[in-house]
Amino acid sequence: MVNPFSLPGVNYYGKGALKNLAPELLNLKAKKVFLVSDHGVADAGLVEKVKVKIEDAGAEVFTYLEVAPEPSVEDLNRCLEVYKENNCDLIIGLGGGSPLDVAKGVSILATCGGSILDYVGLNLVPQKGIPKFLIPTTAGTGAEVTKNAIFTDKKEQLKKGVVSIYLLPEIAIVDSDLTMSMPPHVTAATGMDALTHAIESYTSPKATVQTDLYALKAIELIGASLRRAVSFGSDEKAREKMALGSVFAGISLANAGVGAVHACAYPLGGQFGTGHGVTNALLLPYIMEQNIIGDLQKFANIARALGEVTEMLPLREQAQLACEAVFALSRDIGIPQKLTEFGVKKEDIPGLAEAAMQVTRLMDNNPKKLTLEEVTTCLYRALD
Ligand SMILES: [Fe+2]
Repeated sequence: MVNPFSLPGVNYYGKGALKNLAPELLNLKAKKVFLVSDHGVADAGLVEKVKVKIEDAGAEVFTYLEVAPEPSVEDLNRCLEVYKENNCDLIIGLGGGSPLDVAKGVSILATCGGSILDYVGLNLVPQKGIPKFLIPTTAGTGAEVTKNAIFTDKKEQLKKGVVSIYLLPEIAIVDSDLTMSMPPHVTAATGMDALTHAIESYTSPKATVQTDLYALKAIELIGASLRRAVSFGSDEKAREKMALGSVFAGISLANAGVGAVHACAYPLGGQFGTGHGVTNALLLPYIMEQNIIGDLQKFANIARALGEVTEMLPLREQAQLACEAVFALSRDIGIPQKLTEFGVKKEDIPGLAEAAMQVTRLMDNNPKKLTLEEVTTCLYRALD
């Protein structure tokens, strides 16, 4: 069966796109809005900026700023309690992936009940949630256009993913003005997460002609602008390209999925608390080296989209250039290059590799069927 191609109900992209928020709230006749974000986003003045737009639409705002990075099931439940106390008719997620995922989780738990762990897996959410708008302030996770939400299960020290069409928002607003205050290290980590989404979904067995259009354009946009966005954050053009690259990568990911990089990043994040973007960024080129024989042509296309000159080279060498381009980009923007920098030790690798193999939803969606030995080799290569 061919998967349906899905997008949020309405999408606004580009500089100044936030101006569409108040008219859309008026359209939906929203009266009480629950705004989910975090203190970092508030300190950057972005919560206030959005609150003003909500009030312009005549709605009351209840703000929740306690979302933690890489949110746990308990973090989500705390937010749900505050939502229930205020009984709002619309939820807005504002921020990076964490507030957006928490907004998605609250939306479905408010109507479906139970624990988020009841819905971990594919298509297990039984019904629509409370209407939600998602507004990213980073250019990376693509959470505003994906059917996924990720939460840390502290008991099992593992990140768990809920995947459902009901996690797609009614409205996604991607305004690059909201990303201008991102510090360089966040720009770098989230930008590399977006690149990982684009590359993994482009080479996924579930990729289609349609997802390829978004994925390849995303790789091109990110390759052309991420260094500049990190090194000169006030460059509006670079920020706009990154915002667009991130959302295009998210659309491709939402429909073609990601693979072994994300599968390996989950246990690392769960056990060592490493940030999602930076973990993916570190692992990406090592896994690509394993994957290129799965689809030499597509990896050669990635190399060209990242600006590599591939003329006259054999296809195998063209594909290899994609890995080298990603290593160079990652180094240039200051991404940690080795797992030891996160406190990972040699003796941790076998367990991490086995845990990654258990994320079968993603391991099965990799362009090459990786064995435990191959994943272990990748992680050792990434270690030191
Ligand atoms: Fe990701």
